[in-house]
Amino acid sequence: MFFTSDNASGAAPEIIAAVTRANEGYARSYGADDIMARVTAQIRSLFDAPEAAVYLVPTGTVANSLALALYAQPWTAIFAHPEAHIATDECGAPEFYTNGAKLMGVDGAHGKMTPENLSAALNRVGESGVHGVQRAILSITNITEAGTLYTPAEIAALTAIARAKGLPSHLDGARFANAIAASGATPAEMTWKAGIDILSFGGTKNGCMGVEAVVMFDPAKAWEFELRRKRGGHLFSKHRYLSAQMEAYLTDDLWLRLASQANAMGARLAKGVAALPDARLLHPAPANMMFPEWAPGTNARAFARGAMFYPMPGAAGRDTARLVTSWSTTEADVDALLTALRP
Ligand SMILES: Cc1ncc(COP(=O)(O)O)c(C=O)c1O
Repeated sequence: MFFTSDNASGAAPEIIAAVTRANEGYARSYGADDIMARVTAQIRSLFDAPEAAVYLVPTGTVANSLALALYAQPWTAIFAHPEAHIATDECGAPEFYTNGAKLMGVDGAHGKMTPENLSAALNRVGESGVHGVQRAILSITNITEAGTLYTPAEIAALTAIARAKGLPSHLDGARFANAIAASGATPAEMTWKAGIDILSFGGTKNGCMGVEAVVMFDPAKAWEFELRRKRGGHLFSKHRYLSAQMEAYLTDDLWLRLASQANAMGARLAKGVAALPDARLLHPAPANMMFPEWAPGTNARAFARGAMFYPMPGAAGRDTARLVTSWSTTEADVDALLTALRP
């Protein structure tokens, strides 16, 4: 009954096997390994983006921070939802890597920025000459931190507003696979066809040991990314172990199969939670993360019965929680949690 996060699950057997295979013999270091060349080809083909530049890093935080640093100077602003991981859970890493760019909140219900709020924020910022920060980049998260989904059309609406002001757009895809599995969109439709310039493509939460790809649909800043990754201390010398994970992740649609399992278990759990007495979901839950609110005492009862999940701050007199399923969650796990939650 481990529902704290999708990174609480282990790595998929295919990933471990690939790392073991990559351990044989010698390989060129610092990303010059043969596996990395194949990964670049895989990602270009998957995204239908033959020019894309592709780099691997070990964490989502550094993927986001290095991506944003390519576009945001110290005197500029990054526009994102106030609950965005870059704003709330990266310990100031985006500010650190950009040497102090400002994060500007663009609100919206269910973890999603609205076009109206984005327009208003863009109109407010950058108009006071030398006295105010200048606009730099829009950052969107999908699946959002509220567990909700932006459709490609919703992403396109936001990036069009940003582009009209000359801003590029970043997608934090720590749960990109879950978003693709939930939407049925193609990776291209969810990214460059919807106006995304640079993507953090997550692997870790969805069955890898620790690897994320940064995909640059416009490779103009590729060399700068390489320099920033090295200077930021995130160029692995034994890079083949990152490459091997990503190659296995992309082979035979493993990434999509793992995310589909996580989402299927999310759907089973969401349905079960909605059927509990005096319980409701605070946001739609199309993928693998949900935020229920239920009768006081529900969290304590489930914890006493061995369930693991994060309680969340909520309305007075109510219990709130965050539940996350992963590629390794089984129907039996979900049903055990639902039993533990019942009076
Ligand atoms: C939406 C989102 N982005 C980025 C990250 C960063 O991942 P990491 O913990 O690997 O730095 C996470 C991890 O929780 C996340 O949920």
